[in-house]
Amino acid sequence: EAFDYRSPAEIFREHAALSGIANDGTRDFDIGACAELSESAYDMLAPFQWPRRQGQALDDATTRFFAEGGFYTPDRRGRFVPTPVALQAVSPEFPLILNTGRIRDQWHTMTRTAKTPRLMSHYAESFCEIHPEDAEEAGIAPATLVRIVTPQGTALVRALVTERQQRGSIFVPMHWTDQQTAQGRIGAAVLPAVDPVSGQPGLKSSFARIEPFDVAWYGFAVLRNKPETIPVDYWAIAQAEGGWRVELAGVEPVEDWIAYAADLIGSGEDLETLSYSDQDQASFRLATFSGDALLGALFVAPQPVAVSRTWAIEHLSTKEIRGTERLRLLSGRPGADQADPGPIVCACFSVGANQIAAAVESGAASVEAVGAALRAGTNCGSCRVEIRRLIDAAALKKTG
Ligand code: FES
Repeated sequence: EAFDYRSPAEIFREHAALSGIANDGTRDFDIGACAELSESAYDMLAPFQWPRRQGQALDDATTRFFAEGGFYTPDRRGRFVPTPVALQAVSPEFPLILNTGRIRDQWHTMTRTAKTPRLMSHYAESFCEIHPEDAEEAGIAPATLVRIVTPQGTALVRALVTERQQRGSIFVPMHWTDQQTAQGRIGAAVLPAVDPVSGQPGLKSSFARIEPFDVAWYGFAVLRNKPETIPVDYWAIAQAEGGWRVELAGVEPVEDWIAYAADLIGSGEDLETLSYSDQDQASFRLATFSGDALLGALFVAPQPVAVSRTWAIEHLSTKEIRGTERLRLLSGRPGADQADPGPIVCACFSVGANQIAAAVESGAASVEAVGAALRAGTNCGSCRVEIRRLIDAAALKKTG
């Protein structure tokens, strides 16, 4: 009887009303303004920033947390709490500071965001940002796999060599778990010592070294169906439009690629498979079709696979792939008539780095101009920093 709600709006109204009871500014969460929202107003409700207290208009954007002080302490003043934990110094064995944190498209351990192909299109696997000079010192090439070692544990991720990372530090996102990748969970390598007041572990102050992870082959696959297991040393799987995308790498050479691909993609007499390999089997490509549609494709190379991910993934949603289009897919390269959008930068509108570079080349010299040309950056805005970076990089290139 206590749960005889007739609509989601009714539940929300009760939730809103409870947040305002005896609140009077003493608790941070207060959306009492929504306590009497109508059904249609609930359906039309746009995101807003709380608190929105009873009687306050929902579009009143004047309240902002702590803009005028008013912390939730007895005297309403903020407290700085000194912590007794002393930072250790880096050592020759662990010369880098490991910083972990968020990336723009993901939330916590991705239990929900990983279900959205668009959000996975920006970064589909975990990575380690490292400064070019630190990478060179550690013998690490861009896009190869690296092992991060701390006194606590290890993690295996992709190297992202970039000058936006400062020397002496590395950054690894906190989001990936064993559900999405083999050995990529950076939490396993974070120092377990916790701050005695907040209980926070050393998420930003672990000490680490980074080592190349030598593999015999790298692979990339697009799959209609999610494989039950992926028996290989490194894998990272993510949802894509129409199926799944998987990054792979193996320490041992694979004797029979056709059999390996069949395990990953599926097999059957009604399926048609095309494959290609060079003489020593170092490079291998295979695509399997069910009727006119792609069931899966696998690309293997001795170095990180240089196939356009965005382009390859588009084939999963293409209803008919025939003749030369099949051969083109096998070649791993879009035809001259199909521009490669490049890695996705704007997830809201699926705009890739190559498209943004082309717009900049044609004169779009600001984030706004890129937005006007491609819509990129005009929705949630979280890609705007990256668009700005691409514009700056293009300008730098021009000035030499
Ligand atoms: S990612 Fe949302 S506007 Fe680009």
